[in-house]
Amino acid sequence: MPTSPESTGRAIRRWRRQARCYDCLTAPMERLLGFERAREWVFARVPKGRVLEVGAGTGRNIAHYPAGPVIVTSDLSAAMLARAAAKAGNRGLTGRLVVTDAEDLAFRDQAFDAVVATCVFCSVPDPLRGLGEVRRILKAGGAVFLLEHMRPGGWLGRLFDLVDPIASRLMGPHLNRRTLDTVRQAGLVVVEERRVFSDWIKIIVAR
Ligand SMILES: C[S@@+](CC[C@H](N)C(=O)[O-])C[C@H]1O[C@@H](n2cnc3c(N)ncnc32)[C@H](O)[C@@H]1O
Repeated sequence: MPTSPESTGRAIRRWRRQARCYDCLTAPMERLLGFERAREWVFARVPKGRVLEVGAGTGRNIAHYPAGPVIVTSDLSAAMLARAAAKAGNRGLTGRLVVTDAEDLAFRDQAFDAVVATCVFCSVPDPLRGLGEVRRILKAGGAVFLLEHMRPGGWLGRLFDLVDPIASRLMGPHLNRRTLDTVRQAGLVVVEERRVFSDWIKIIVAR
């Protein structure tokens, strides 16, 4: 069962409120924490074929979409996705934009050659269910590219555990997700793990 309609509704309202200021608020972190280069790295490796971006938000990755593959851009929030639509229009891209919950993706089994998600599974209420859905819609031999912040080791991880209940309530995303473990629990096989910023932000490539 996907997360309850009440909590999904809360998430939709939260991202609707954030849609207008998201790009501005997160811009400083793009360079400082290495997200910008990591996005480039990911999209340089996205294979040809049918590609789904899950939780595309305001379309921060659209500048990196290569001309070749047909990318379906999806998100839970129509307000976030409207911004992505404007960016796609500016680039003259013709791919589909779909409002759908990562926990219950509106696509048939094995529909995609690759799935990309950047900074998404910190926010999806049930990341194991979401990654299970990613596995379901991925073709055999397909690739998953994740760029995620997660729980770091040591004292910083313990600090994140401490502040997460309040921080996630205020902002939405969780600071202490163990995303690498969750990817494996979902039945995906991790083929590459790259540090983007310490052990806090990583690219995970899985199959
Ligand atoms: C931190 S933003 C990241 C946006 C974009 N991927 C980026 O890299 O800038 C998280 C996004 O995940 C989306 N999201 C949260 N829960 C989701 C869910 N259950 N299904 C699909 N998208 C979800 C939000 O609407 C939001 O656009």
